[in-house]
Amino acid sequence: MTDQYAVIGNPVEHSLSPEIHAAFARATGQDVAYGRVLAPLHGFRDAAFRFRDEGGRGLNVTLPFKQEAWKLADSHSPGALEAGAVNTLKFEGGRVAGDNTDGIGLTRDLMENLGCPVRGRRVLVMGAGGAVYGVMGPLLRELPEQIVVANRTLDKAVALVAHFEKLLKFAARGVTALPYGALPGTRFDIVINATSAGLADVMPPLPRDIFAPGALAYEMVYGRRTLFMKFAAEYGARAADGLGMLVEQAAESFFIWRGVRPATRPVIDRLRRQG
Ligand code: ATR
Repeated sequence: MTDQYAVIGNPVEHSLSPEIHAAFARATGQDVAYGRVLAPLHGFRDAAFRFRDEGGRGLNVTLPFKQEAWKLADSHSPGALEAGAVNTLKFEGGRVAGDNTDGIGLTRDLMENLGCPVRGRRVLVMGAGGAVYGVMGPLLRELPEQIVVANRTLDKAVALVAHFEKLLKFAARGVTALPYGALPGTRFDIVINATSAGLADVMPPLPRDIFAPGALAYEMVYGRRTLFMKFAAEYGARAADGLGMLVEQAAESFFIWRGVRPATRPVIDRLRRQG
């Protein structure tokens, strides 16, 4: 029988995950079907368990339910524990295993698709919400020279840095929380926009000289050229959107569920051609 998976969120109708997983299934010969579950804002738990009780084997969890998914899981992978959030649920008998593949998705996209190593580089991460918690662990494990977390509300960046304190040994000069106003005069090799500002098309207040020569500006939003990407191109950086991260995190979820790692490049290329 075909195994059932889905992405659960609210909203969920524009998610590319069904298309991505269908392509993985075709390419790997796995007998899986992948749909969408629109959960009511206060009905995540019921919707997730209904899907499981009807035979579902796993769910990808998107906004705004990643913290609720963490609570729903009986066991948590190290990545999920670090992030305090779950984006991948696997139903195993009566138990629910929670994982988080967002950070692996980002680091694979940076290093394998964009040819941008993290090791020894100076990294600026903008934002201190769930998106940043999801990616800090895998970023730190790649041994950057330093990570600066800049956020409009400084307290949130300070709390985030404290949360990742146990991992700080992985960055040579550590991890610092700064307000945007303290950035002028420092340059970075990788600048990641993990604020929700990309969605609202508001530009975080970055100084023009933030990019080191050859820097990469990474926008976690995908599907359009945001103000941050335009700013990066104008001030000398290479700009990338988050489509590769989306496909890479999906591939890691597919691997968790099926034990098979699908090729990602053909899927990224096809989605880009479709625009
Ligand atoms: P997510 O789960 O996507 O990270 P979130 O937890 O709501 O969403 O976090 C949104 C992030 O975008 C926060 O870091 C927020 O900054 P504050 O902590 O100061 O609210 C940031 N953000 C949202 N709009 C922004 C803007 N116009 N300029 C700068 N940062 C913004």
